Amino acid sequence: MFYVKQGNMPDSRHTYIDRNELLREELFGEESFEGPYSLLYHRNEPTDLVSVEEAPKKSLLESKRAFTHRHYNALSYQRNGSFITGRNPLMYNERLKIGTVQPSEKMKGLMRNALFETILFIHSGTGELISPFGSIKFGKGDYLYIPKGLTFYMEYSTNFSAFFLESRDRISIPSRYLNVYGQLKEGSPYYTRDFRYPLLGKPSHSGAGEVYVDFGTHYLVEKREKSMFDVEGWDGYLYPYAINVDRISPIVGKLHMPPPIHEHFTGKSFMMGTFLPRPFDFHPKAVPISYYHNNIDTDEILFYSSGNFMSRKGISPGSVTVHVRGIIHGPQPGAVENSLGKQSTNELAVMIEAYDPIKFTEFADTVEDRDYMKSWTS
Ligand SMILES: [Fe+2]
Repeated sequence: MFYVKQGNMPDSRHTYIDRNELLREELFGEESFEGPYSLLYHRNEPTDLVSVEEAPKKSLLESKRAFTHRHYNALSYQRNGSFITGRNPLMYNERLKIGTVQPSEKMKGLMRNALFETILFIHSGTGELISPFGSIKFGKGDYLYIPKGLTFYMEYSTNFSAFFLESRDRISIPSRYLNVYGQLKEGSPYYTRDFRYPLLGKPSHSGAGEVYVDFGTHYLVEKREKSMFDVEGWDGYLYPYAINVDRISPIVGKLHMPPPIHEHFTGKSFMMGTFLPRPFDFHPKAVPISYYHNNIDTDEILFYSSGNFMSRKGISPGSVTVHVRGIIHGPQPGAVENSLGKQSTNELAVMIEAYDPIKFTEFADTVEDRDYMKSWTS
């Protein structure tokens, strides 16, 4: 991301302002000391813990059902847990977890994901992400990026629900949107000004208490008496951020544009994008919806948030479809005919292409529409 600086800090890194009132410098960085990073200046030593203990975590169980295309009513289950305990993966592989979260409880403590970066797409509700970097308010239609290793508390409204992607590898902006100077190019679907970063201020959470550190198979629970939200200043390139889909511009064309044109975030093992409300292709004989396609090297996942999803029958807000590698897919019978002459779409859907083969979870079986494969039979 771009450089941000807030609050007080020494003129040079790795120096101090006043030896009688030392600030504690923390390097928050990815890819060892080589990747993007920020420098934070705490009032307390960030290592100051009362205790650390292991705690159990619900394990992921693989579905035993055949590996075919799927449709999930992915928000049809009862609200449960908090943002820490209520994340429900529908599918996963070594590098990704993808699912939905709609908590019924507040977070019992703070959280830190030791292994995965997270990007949330907020389907409903509002909230605030509070971290040592400050606070970001979020709401419907926002993407919210939470870097791996961030200690945070999340507040959310009772109607909060989100689609999430967790990635072992860095989540970033596709490099083709950046010039050699690191600036977002003209013609890219968003600009620096469209991203919101956390603001330092008086946090609405103490930043002390228990921190649930998610290690995938279990938690480590840190107990802290002193606040983690004690930062006087920070600067750098790695921090949580948000962007609303209203600030992202779709790229449209005379003829049908393939999914990578809608890409907005990228990682080593996936791409993520948004089908936004947009005018359709403007060739007089354009077929405005997707052709049949055989994604040989990817599993293709879609979360439908709002609008009219013209190429899919039986889909509603909160639906997730998965079109798996190895089986051709495309519009259902009659969809191409119905689309001809249509000028625009108001659909809003999030798309992920997973490059490594995914597995479905047993939880996903409980929200599956088992007739989905039949929707292609005429
Ligand atoms: Fe597709």
